[in-house]
Amino acid sequence: MVMKNLPEWVKIVEVGPRDGLQNEKTLISADDKVALINKLSEAGLTTIESGSFVSPKWVPQMATSSEVFQKINRTQGVSYAALTPNMKGFEAALAAGVDEVAIFGAASESFSQKNINCSIAESLARFVPIMSAAKAANIPVRGYVSCVVGCPYEGNISPEKVAEVAEKLFAMGCYEISLGDTIGTGTVTSVQKMLQAVMAKVPTEKLAVHFHDTYGQALTNIYAALQLGIKVVDSAIAGLGGCPYAKGASGNVATEDVIYMLNGLNINHHIDFDKLLTAGWYISDKLNKVPSSKVSNAYRAKIAQCER
Ligand code: HMG
Ligand code: MG
Repeated sequence: MVMKNLPEWVKIVEVGPRDGLQNEKTLISADDKVALINKLSEAGLTTIESGSFVSPKWVPQMATSSEVFQKINRTQGVSYAALTPNMKGFEAALAAGVDEVAIFGAASESFSQKNINCSIAESLARFVPIMSAAKAANIPVRGYVSCVVGCPYEGNISPEKVAEVAEKLFAMGCYEISLGDTIGTGTVTSVQKMLQAVMAKVPTEKLAVHFHDTYGQALTNIYAALQLGIKVVDSAIAGLGGCPYAKGASGNVATEDVIYMLNGLNINHHIDFDKLLTAGWYISDKLNKVPSSKVSNAYRAKIAQCER
């Protein structure tokens, strides 16, 4: 058997309602976001990034996050998460009833400046009070590192720099570090080198991977990460996504594509594939676009053919 060292179980962190919708030109209403989030929880996703408490001047698409959190049909066992860049965001997130938050830093100085208007060191200092407030409120905090392979402004990023930032976020108390290939330039070799550097500083079971699929490498890179022992994968329904401060970066790897691959590998995930497809078609229709998931489109075409 060629497929060695693969996990029996993979956890999916669904980032579509946040990473996906933050980059869409079409503004989706709070009620439609809520309907999407409810469909995702019905499909069995247990961590759903449902919004972000950032400046509405920077990301207008996320301005309705408080309303969204208040209207979600809460499913037991599901963690509804949000991004919080600073204390103002954390306080708003707490008031809206989030289950967990994520702080987001970068391994590139230029990207940090463009995305959150401060240096890497300043961002880490800004996260300290969030960590204390979250601990006091019993809210778990996830940490993101962006630009783990490439940066839209600086080009290649060294694995050592990624490991340094990941280690600092972990030492601060983040329960998990998600490694973001923000512009999707990673390949198996560069991703595995980066992961090995990070794994020397942060336990493997505390790491997640977050691939944007700009260069079509995301599924291959996930497979490469699974072989190194990673068991948590971020993905977005219908392959939505992108960062407004990483020009040209396309969507996250599609959840549908990841689940199709995991099914083929016989890896458990507890997600209802049919319900997942329906959730993807729902939001794609609202956005008036075709999903960037090949799996989703293939199933839709097959169903249409059967109905003819
Ligand atoms: P700033 O302009 O330096 O902030 O932005 P400031 O503290 O100087 O405040 C300026 C104004 O913003 C003030 O309002 C504040 O009240 C307001 P004014 O007095 O001018 O009316 N403000 C806020 N409003 C609402 N919520 C807040 C907040 N904070 C300040 N939390 C800031 C700094 C971090 C706020 C800004 O740069 C920002 O919001 N950036 C967010 C950018 C973003 O969301 N990017 C996308 C998410 S990251 C991503 O997608 C990557 C990831 O997916 C992983 C990967 O793929 O690599 C996670
Ligand atoms: Mg992202």
